[in-house]
Amino acid sequence: MSPVELRSFMASIDARGREELMALARGVCDEQYGDGVFLRGLIEISNYCRMSCLYCGINREIRSVQRYRLTPNEIIECVAKGYELGFRSFVLQGGEDPWFTDEILSDLIGSIKSQFQGVAITLSLGERGRESFERLFKAGADRYLLRHESSSKRIYDTLHPGMSFENRVESLKCLKEIGFQTGAGLLVGLPGQGVDEYLDELLFLRDLEPEMVGMGPFIPQSSTVMANHPAGSLEDTLLLISLIRIILPQALIPATTAVSTLNPNGRKMALDAGANVIMPNLSPFANRCKYTLYDGKRFVSEESAEELNAIKQDIASYGYVAKMERGDHKLWRVRE
Ligand code: 5AD
Repeated sequence: MSPVELRSFMASIDARGREELMALARGVCDEQYGDGVFLRGLIEISNYCRMSCLYCGINREIRSVQRYRLTPNEIIECVAKGYELGFRSFVLQGGEDPWFTDEILSDLIGSIKSQFQGVAITLSLGERGRESFERLFKAGADRYLLRHESSSKRIYDTLHPGMSFENRVESLKCLKEIGFQTGAGLLVGLPGQGVDEYLDELLFLRDLEPEMVGMGPFIPQSSTVMANHPAGSLEDTLLLISLIRIILPQALIPATTAVSTLNPNGRKMALDAGANVIMPNLSPFANRCKYTLYDGKRFVSEESAEELNAIKQDIASYGYVAKMERGDHKLWRVRE
């Protein structure tokens, strides 16, 4: 299908067409990964951030957030708890917090890798520059998530004061070159997005070929300047998940928390649309309510590791099988 055909397909798709597309995308996912859903233990290591992304509830301008950062020991405790539960894939995510220097992070990654056999470490800590990315890779980090947020330079630059779209893309290319399994991703329902922008997203991701793609609806956060902007639509998010699954068949695509926030059944819908990753929250309970990227973020019961069995049962009830292994991209070779 040419981009022009794809555009008209997207512009004219009806409810039935969406369902057929989702079934097709789910079939592609089944062919690549079967009915497995990879679980990753998410640890939100810090909500300090030096950036001021307009949509984000932990941006530096927001005074109402109680800031916290986990110590390396606390992070290791979270990993230990997850490891005992069976997790072999951990995501350390946080704002752009300069406290986490390369040295601190490298030591932390080294400790995790030596204490817990066979785990994959994913970092999601924003733009740090090539030298830092290289050090973290050498220390043993396997994957890096850095959503591009929007492939439209106009939208990106408007929403990210002091940042630039070119740097974002450069960072993603750099991560790939270094050898990380790299995750890009976008927000759905940003001001200025329409069919043309979504088409551009698909073309951008097709060309970048990231191993992971995180897609979630924008959800307003009451302390941000975008508090009154409407949330992105679930339907558009699901449509994009399906299209990305078809365009990048081996991609690892999470059913994001933002999707579940919009709709209690969102996680199942995202899996049915072609997603194959879920990231239960392993952060210490007391901190979870402070990682307020957007309003209504579900953190209490559903995504806690204490509820791991409930999550597994949910996944089984949707007709999928929860997998606790590293869950690498299919075409990936694990480093010796
Ligand atoms: N709504 C939805 N997702 C958000 N993120 C940040 N703020 C919001 C929001 N208001 C997402 C960004 C970021 C990820 C960690 O959380 O896409 O990359």
